[in-house]
Amino acid sequence: MKQLSLFFIVFVCASIVVWNWEKTPRLTILLPPHDQPVQLFPVMQEEVKREQVTPVTDDFKEDEPVIDKLPPSLSTNAASLNTRQDNEFPKTQEEHHTTEPAVREHIEPPVTNVEQQACNFGKGKWIPADNRPLYSGFGCKQWLSGMWACRLTQRTDFEYEKLKWQPKDCKMDDFTADNFLKRMRNKTLAFVGDSLGRQQFQSLMCMVTGGEEMPDVEDVGTEYGLVKAHGSTRPDGWAYRFPTTNTTIIYYWSATLCDLQPVDPTTHTTDYAMHLDRPPAFLKHFLHKIDVVVLNTGHHWNRGKLNANKWIMYVDGKPNTNRKIADMGSAKNFTIHSVVRWINTELPNHPGLKVFLRSLSPRHFFNGEWNTGGTCDSTTPGALEVVHDESSDPVAAAAVKGTEVKLLDITGLSLVREEGHISRFSIRAAPGAQDCLHWCLPGVPDTWNEVLFAQI
Ligand SMILES: *[C@@H]1O[C@H](CO)[C@@H](O)[C@H](O)[C@H]1NC(C)=O
Ligand SMILES: *[C@@H]1O[C@H](CO)[C@@H](O)[C@H](O)[C@H]1NC(C)=O
Ligand SMILES: *[C@@H]1O[C@H](CO)[C@@H](O)[C@H](O)[C@H]1NC(C)=O
Repeated sequence: MKQLSLFFIVFVCASIVVWNWEKTPRLTILLPPHDQPVQLFPVMQEEVKREQVTPVTDDFKEDEPVIDKLPPSLSTNAASLNTRQDNEFPKTQEEHHTTEPAVREHIEPPVTNVEQQACNFGKGKWIPADNRPLYSGFGCKQWLSGMWACRLTQRTDFEYEKLKWQPKDCKMDDFTADNFLKRMRNKTLAFVGDSLGRQQFQSLMCMVTGGEEMPDVEDVGTEYGLVKAHGSTRPDGWAYRFPTTNTTIIYYWSATLCDLQPVDPTTHTTDYAMHLDRPPAFLKHFLHKIDVVVLNTGHHWNRGKLNANKWIMYVDGKPNTNRKIADMGSAKNFTIHSVVRWINTELPNHPGLKVFLRSLSPRHFFNGEWNTGGTCDSTTPGALEVVHDESSDPVAAAAVKGTEVKLLDITGLSLVREEGHISRFSIRAAPGAQDCLHWCLPGVPDTWNEVLFAQI
């Protein structure tokens, strides 16, 4: 009898708990809006495919075919990129991750310690603002690539230009060119990364110039070795100096944040050693001349690109034999951790240096993939708010943990902005293909720079 009533009590308690669990509105509120988050990781694992379909949009210079950092002899390989695919990211595993941020949040106590924590710029909401965009998409011809200037395409909706990011738990200074230049007096800011890094670079150039012609801005590429090598079609990046404040802004092309070296420098058909555990030589060489570094990678980690570029993974100066880092997702993670660790150990030698790892810029292919008619036709955001505390890019977040390198966490706030991509207005993509990887400018990458500005 005693046992029976005990059982009964336990049963009743359990029912109440379950009933409350189902009832509590927090659970649904905290679930990210729409089916968005489900997008992210499928997106991440196939991010690279997009680049294969429009090698030109992902590339380095708009008026050239493809290629990352190919020697001139290889630049005819463009077409081969189109045919390659990559399915190396384990789908189920990645999908499993997608639920994590939301789920963890229920378990954690309510938001009480937010004030004590460093401000989280990645959490907040998009609000309409009359003072956006910060420059005109018809202007900025000096810096803005035509292929990213959606104002110059057939696109007719431009509401996406008028949203401003408002972090929830912190104040964010409004970006002004004057304030930026003052803060960066005698200083140099360098973006090092892939084409999304280049978008952020162009965006910043437009923000600082207000999109106006500025003939007095000096090209100082030669100071950083950014010159067109003999026989190649482009330099590895650009450097510009604003003479009034002696402020320099650099972009350096490093799609994987690895050091790339010819295996056999004596031939031009050589393979390239892609040293996963060595930072790009440029960074090593010029770190002492840089005050703010913004690193990014993500969209080039696919077998097709590696093969087409003849990049061979090296670790410890030798071809990689470690199966644990041989697949693309692991190699990317390993590299991001390596470069962050390296630069973190350099920080004591460079007082004042600030380093940011920019989290992944999400892709948005709906109803298909880059090569199966995937689209991003929406003219409205998927959601306006990011409610979770944790980054939507756990790889980047884990890499900076315990280091002085900061996370420029733009994944979540960009993830809800599916309407901000080039979409079908791509002037470079193959017919029928859409660019749901790169962003219209002015647009979402401007906000990445505002969030960056707030932290420098
Ligand atoms: C900028 O550099 C110049 C020349 O080295 C120096 O005279 C000036 O004081 C510096 N300004 C600031 C704000 O550091
Ligand atoms: C510009 O800034 C650099 C430091 O970034 C300094 O070495 C140089 O002297 C400055 N030049 C002028 C003209 O102030
Ligand atoms: C990423 O790399 C770090 C360092 O090599 C490792 O500790 C971590 O477990 C890796 N994470 C994943 C998801 O592979």
